[in-house]
Order: sequence, then C-alpha cells, then structure tokens
Amino acid sequence: MKFKKLFAGVALAALLVGGLAGCGNKKADNSVKRIQDKKTLTIGTSADFAPFEFPVVKNGHKVIEGYDILVAQKIAKNLGVKLKVQNIEFPSLISELQNHKVDLVLAGMTKTKKREKAVDFSRHYYTESEKILVKKSDANKYNTKASTKGASFGAQQSSTQETLAKSETDAHIVTESLTTSLTTDLKSGKLDGVVLAKVVADEYVKKYPNQYAEAKYNMKVPTSLKYLNIAIPKNEPALKKRVNKEITHLEKTGQLNKMFKQAQHEQEKSGK
Ligand code: ARG
Repeated sequence: MKFKKLFAGVALAALLVGGLAGCGNKKADNSVKRIQDKKTLTIGTSADFAPFEFPVVKNGHKVIEGYDILVAQKIAKNLGVKLKVQNIEFPSLISELQNHKVDLVLAGMTKTKKREKAVDFSRHYYTESEKILVKKSDANKYNTKASTKGASFGAQQSSTQETLAKSETDAHIVTESLTTSLTTDLKSGKLDGVVLAKVVADEYVKKYPNQYAEAKYNMKVPTSLKYLNIAIPKNEPALKKRVNKEITHLEKTGQLNKMFKQAQHEQEKSGK
C-alpha cells in the first residue's frame, strides 16, 4: 500500500517536472534582452497628433517631439538603451509592430477589443475624450446628433475617432491617414468638421481662435474607448512588465502629468 502511494507520488512529480520542462521548450521571452542587445528601443508613432507627437526642426534636422516621445525616452532610459523614433502613418502602426519593425507603439493609441486581437497593451497612460473641430462660423451649428445630418466630417483612418464619427454622428464621414490632411481640408472648406481627441482639438482652437471652434454636440464615448495605452507585441510579458512598471512609477511620481504639460509647451513653442 505504502509502496503504491510512493509510486503515485513519484509519478506525479515526474509529470510535474515534465510539464514544466514542456513550458521551457516554448519560445523563451527574450523581449527585454533583445532590445538591450541591440542597445536601442525603436518605437513607432504617427507624428500628426500634437501634443502626443509632432515634427519639429531642430538645428536643421527634423525630429519628433511630444508626450509619447517623452514617455518613450523614460522607458528607453530604464532599459539602459537609446531611443529611436520611427514615423509611420497611423493605420500601419499595428502591422509594423506585429512584424517586429518596431519594439513598441506610442501613438496616443486607444486599447480596443479589435486591436487586442493583434497586439498587447500596457496599462493606460492618458485618458482621452473627443470633440468635433469645426469652423468658428459653425460654432453653434451642431448641437445634437441629428443636426450633423448633411455635414461632411473627417476622421483619421482606422482610428477610434472614425468608429465614433460613424456611430455618433449622422454626417458623411471622410477618412484620411493623416489628421493634418483633415484639418487642412477643414480650413479650405472641403470638410465641415473633424472628429479629434479633445486635447488635440483644444490646441487648434487655442492657436487659431478666429478660425476654429469645438461643436456644442458631445458624442457619447464609451468608457472602453477612453484609455490610451502603449502597444506591445503579443507574447512579450517581460517587456510588458517593464513598461507597466515604468508607467506606474511615472504616474505615482507625478511625472506623467508634468511630461504632458511639457509636451504642450513644446508644441506651443514650435508653432504646431
Ligand atoms: N486614440 C485614437 C486611436 O487610438 C487616435 C490616435 C491617433 N494617433 C495619432 N498619432 N495620429 O484610434
């Protein structure tokens, strides 16, 4: 009897060890090591979304500045590597991350169920709300969903603003891969409005108070579409853990808020 029990115990132990070894056989997560070995953290962003990211010319060179860049710099520093910023149009960012062309995506990106099928996300580092940017002369024109019927609104292709524009307005929706093309079309009168993150729209109004205004109509934004997160390739838990740890630290020490204000200041200085 005793022997049987002992045998069962040994068999169970063997099974456990076998199971663990089996796990070890799965491709190891060397995400952090891979970045440290190449001494560079490469992030993908779409520099058409100030104050999150925007191009500036410094000493004759085009560089990208903004909140996402400041956050990425901290993560790179934490990993002990240099930061490289790759400018990619927003609709292509997810596939570039999936193909490992970049290590992370910081692009004011919302965590959505659909994107979560393709990539992983960190904890959030900004909470977003939405506005419709219109011409100053139309400031009072759109105050209900129904009032948007017949209007032509723009939204960035593949963005959550596109989803919202289609469900929360009755306007005809035009999409472009760059938000800056949409605001140009608003200025020239090709569009009647552009659905934008509130903080992005705010900056346009602040900078051109005689040209733009925010529509009175407030679209209903589900809570699930409010959080901006860093996109991480799937199956890279070590990298995700490092990124989350850094965000938590930056948030707790008040640095996230400070960096956002710094980015707004940089934007104002650059005239973007
Ligand atoms: N938060 C929105 C989304 O994830 C818009 C982000 C746009 N970002 C940009 N860099 N253009 O769809």
